[in-house]
Amino acid sequence: IKRITTHTLQEMKNRGEKISMLTAYDFSMAGIVDAGGVDIILVGDSASNVMAGHETTLPITLDQMIYHATSVVRGVKRAFVVVDIPFGSYQGNSSEALRSAIRIMKESGAHAVKVEGGAEIKESVVRILSAGVPVMGHLGLTPQSIYKFGTYTVRAKEDAEAQKLIEDAKILEDCGCFALVLEKIPAALAKKVAQSVSIPVIGIGAGPDVDGQVLVVHDMLGITQEFKPRFLRQYADLRTQMLKAVENYIDDVKSRDFPNEKESY
Ligand code: KIV
Ligand code: NA
Repeated sequence: IKRITTHTLQEMKNRGEKISMLTAYDFSMAGIVDAGGVDIILVGDSASNVMAGHETTLPITLDQMIYHATSVVRGVKRAFVVVDIPFGSYQGNSSEALRSAIRIMKESGAHAVKVEGGAEIKESVVRILSAGVPVMGHLGLTPQSIYKFGTYTVRAKEDAEAQKLIEDAKILEDCGCFALVLEKIPAALAKKVAQSVSIPVIGIGAGPDVDGQVLVVHDMLGITQEFKPRFLRQYADLRTQMLKAVENYIDDVKSRDFPNEKESY
């Protein structure tokens, strides 16, 4: 199997082939997502919500992200694996940013890191890139800044914020980022950004006119419940199927149907 690289992804944008990206946080799920043929697997800090049950992405630690990333990398043969640097491990201190990125790359074997923000974190981005670590940017609704925003609604609807986002995208491209995620912004703005930078732009709630799409795998498989934003298309109802399986198992145990003779030694 030929591995996906930053080079492959750039070629996909150049020829207009859409890039598919999903999250994964563990070996088993990563193996399924990779076997399905997804181009990029993101070890997102959404693990804080999906895996650990926190309300935000802020509490997850660098050690915990490395544990998830290590498990994912072991399950992947083809996809390009990107790991979120968690809140508090790169902002405002480029030395710490570099140290965090190097720990992720060295200890997990992942292929790139992702950070949230533009101009504010430029130094950190440059520093990480200078070590030869590919960096993916993330603009728009950046969940590590949720307490600054105060709401999970669409970002950059106002001209000033939209203008800053366009400038930030340009800054990240100029720094040398290999790709960008745009989260929950107007489709027209996302289209403009995707056209104005040459690197791949991956959207989540950013409309169709970007170079690829990303979703949280537990959301698109219907494992998570309450989270149902407009941008989420649910491709399976695994929660219902899993519930049924658990209930059937309990019934079989209680009724002494399980295990039967063939299932015993
Ligand atoms: O952590 C995450 O899952 C993400 C994606 C939603 C882009 O950052
Ligand atoms: Na994230």
